[in-house]
Amino acid sequence: TGAITLDPGYKNSGSCKSAITFLDGEEGILRYRGYAIEELANNAHFLEVSYLIIFGELPTEKQLEKFENDIRKHTLVNEEMKGIIDGFPKHAHPMGVLSSLTCALTAFNPTVVNVENENQMYEAICKIMGKFLVIATWTYRKTIGYPLNYYDNTKPYVENFLRLMFELPTGPYKVNQTVLNAIDKLFILHADHEQNCSTSTVRMVGSSHAGLFASISSGVSALWGPLHGGANQAVLEMLEEIQKDGGDADKFIEKAKDRNDPFRLMGFGHRVYKNFDPRARIIKKAADDVLAELGVDDPILNIAKQLEEKALKDEYFVSRNLYPNVDFYSGIIYRALGIPTEMFTVMFAIGRLPGWVAQWKEMRENKEPIGRPRQIYIGEPLRKFKTMNER
Ligand code: CMC
Repeated sequence: TGAITLDPGYKNSGSCKSAITFLDGEEGILRYRGYAIEELANNAHFLEVSYLIIFGELPTEKQLEKFENDIRKHTLVNEEMKGIIDGFPKHAHPMGVLSSLTCALTAFNPTVVNVENENQMYEAICKIMGKFLVIATWTYRKTIGYPLNYYDNTKPYVENFLRLMFELPTGPYKVNQTVLNAIDKLFILHADHEQNCSTSTVRMVGSSHAGLFASISSGVSALWGPLHGGANQAVLEMLEEIQKDGGDADKFIEKAKDRNDPFRLMGFGHRVYKNFDPRARIIKKAADDVLAELGVDDPILNIAKQLEEKALKDEYFVSRNLYPNVDFYSGIIYRALGIPTEMFTVMFAIGRLPGWVAQWKEMRENKEPIGRPRQIYIGEPLRKFKTMNER
């Protein structure tokens, strides 16, 4: 074991070389393919950024139109998938259903993609981009008992997300431009984040040459955890708990500081960002704008503000470089946009999809070896087998 370096949580280990996302945790810098996240969030649309992340360059108008059209060709989900959804209990968590349905796509698309064939690779990418959006929204319609609906090929991708989620059989869904723009921006901010837990999972699973859909499905499962993407739901639930408890933010800050209590302030801290999370800055501003534009006055927001102000001054959080992360604000803004709490992490997954796809593609194109870490064995030395009577 002498040659094995132990690094639990891979805090200091690079797992690959990547040309997709640049992140400087000290300076709070995030760039996709060299473009600053701030510029992309303010000037581009989600599919444009998806194209950039997956294929390496910002698309021309023609390339973007083709990409969107090619995705549209794959937005019909096999009708038998509806039977699978029917089999879930109504209260099943949308992330569990999404992970299962994403893996179930393999049953209807069994052809193994030859990654050296550019057309096959491109088709698989368009397929997952199209079908994932539809099944992601179906997980919500299932929980509220709405009939499952279809992608409208005359409407853009992100607008389709809103329609697919909220359109009722009784009439067309009226899109609010403020809500649409905010969601587009949120998807962009979540689109990639180098070797985070879910992305590393996608690369690891894909490294055994498991297919794209199976790899993405495992990424959804990894994202679900409250220390990763599930934090956005956990933040809102924590704020609601503080509200129910009488609204005393201090009490929860003290609880988070107590080393004998496993409770953590959800939406605080980050493995890599040690000064601030640039995505949180953009979202905080977007949240303020959207709340003002929509005229939302929500007591939960005051609790969030109090918590943020107090924690930022508290020696425990300051000394450990714990700042609000992207999930602290994303839950607040999703709530203001009318997205149900259980769907927050699904929103993260829809946004992260192009990142997972790009990282899977890069890993396969770079012909990376199977991911197979070592360990340091700390168990028993060789023992003699004991018969049943001897135990
Ligand atoms: N509340 C209270 N204490 C905390 C928190 C928190 N949210 N986060 C970290 N700490 C403490 C931790 O107890 C440890 O203290 P000590 O040194 O005394 O033992 C110290 O800060 C360092 O924490 P760590 O667990 O070693 O740090 P990590 O890099 O392994 O964990 C994290 C990073 C994001 C998992 C963690 O900060 C956390 O659990 N945060 C809450 C969950 C959350 O908001 N997650 C979303 C992350 S951003 C979105 C995404 O990328 O998914």
